[in-house]
Amino acid sequence: MAETYRRWLLARRPQGVIKDSDFSLDVSPVPEPGPGEFLVRVTHLSFDPTQRGWLAADSYLPAVKLGDPVRASGVGQVVKSSHPGFKPGQMVQGGFGWQEYVLSNGMTELGPITPLFPGVTPEQALGVFGITGLTAWFGLTDLGKPQAGDTVLVSGAAGATGSVVVQVAKALGCKVIGIAGGPDKCRWVTEVAGADACIDYKSEPVAERLHTLAPGGVNVVFENVGGEILEAALMNLALRARVILCGGISSYNAEDLSAMQGIRPYMQLTIQRARMEGFIILDYMHRFAEGVQALAKLIAEGKLTTAEDIQEGFETCPATLRRLFEGKNLGKQLLKLTDPPLPPA
Ligand SMILES: NC(=O)c1ccc[n+]([C@@H]2O[C@H](COP(=O)([O-])OP(=O)(O)OC[C@H]3O[C@@H](n4cnc5c(N)ncnc54)[C@H](OP(=O)(O)O)[C@@H]3O)[C@@H](O)[C@H]2O)c1
Repeated sequence: MAETYRRWLLARRPQGVIKDSDFSLDVSPVPEPGPGEFLVRVTHLSFDPTQRGWLAADSYLPAVKLGDPVRASGVGQVVKSSHPGFKPGQMVQGGFGWQEYVLSNGMTELGPITPLFPGVTPEQALGVFGITGLTAWFGLTDLGKPQAGDTVLVSGAAGATGSVVVQVAKALGCKVIGIAGGPDKCRWVTEVAGADACIDYKSEPVAERLHTLAPGGVNVVFENVGGEILEAALMNLALRARVILCGGISSYNAEDLSAMQGIRPYMQLTIQRARMEGFIILDYMHRFAEGVQALAKLIAEGKLTTAEDIQEGFETCPATLRRLFEGKNLGKQLLKLTDPPLPPA
């Protein structure tokens, strides 16, 4: 086993686009578990746009402290244990952060460390059965409440969350219109994810195309992007539409929340008697098992396929996070550090 391990620490709060210099790479001796502790070798890390927010300021979670490892979900393998609940060789997931090894008593900033369900891969644990898949499931079904025959609009449709929303909405019998950046992603959204249409926001006028594709307006908007794309959606609402504010990545590099782009046509909500609602998936933690079951059923029925973009190499953590803001990922953005399963220590 290695004697030292690497950690990416927050060196300064990002301003604008994330830079490598916002982080520092620390090398420390691998710690030994004390009583009630165990050591995890991290194999996979999840990359999520919300990490940019955690680095910048307090929000629904306190900001990462300067000098602390960058907060992140991950999967790993227990390599040493003096904890009765964890055995060497066991695959586990939790808020491991940007670190190659994690010493823990079982709790992380993102909740308890839990074993991977049998048969679930690290990619599935962090993707379709992780935060993004569950966000898609609960945001769409619990807040969007789509009915068969409804028209559902999904921005960020080729991303981890959006691609699951597209397919769940199709499985529920809806007409689905995706929005994504570039012809390759749009082709994937229609041909693989099965949307009825996809608007390339980088080369097409979104509001006009939407009007042509959904002349009666859209019943559900699953919003991942915000800004002008949200405005185009609001200009095309059906009566009593539900607008789900999942995220607004187009403004995440803004100086602070007050500098985010505002919403001009908000009176459309009044005119169409529509509802716009935000949510944070952590509020659904008590229902995660229900969501995993529903998503697993769709996979088994051949109605849900997943895509993962897997980068390699711990040294690429900052660049991998940047990929989300450059639109380089298709599906769930992951980083593989090492191959599981590893022999027990
Ligand atoms: N509310 C919650 O609890 C919750 C939980 C999870 C995720 N979210 C939100 O869900 C959204 C998607 O997250 P994800 O993890 O699934 O990421 P993702 O969609 O897999 O990746 C981000 C995608 O956003 C698009 N994008 C980046 N910058 C953009 C810009 N300036 N304008 C338009 N599109 C841009 C890119 O796709 P294109 O190439 O198509 O531009 C990129 O691939 C984010 O807003 C995230 O914050 C919310």
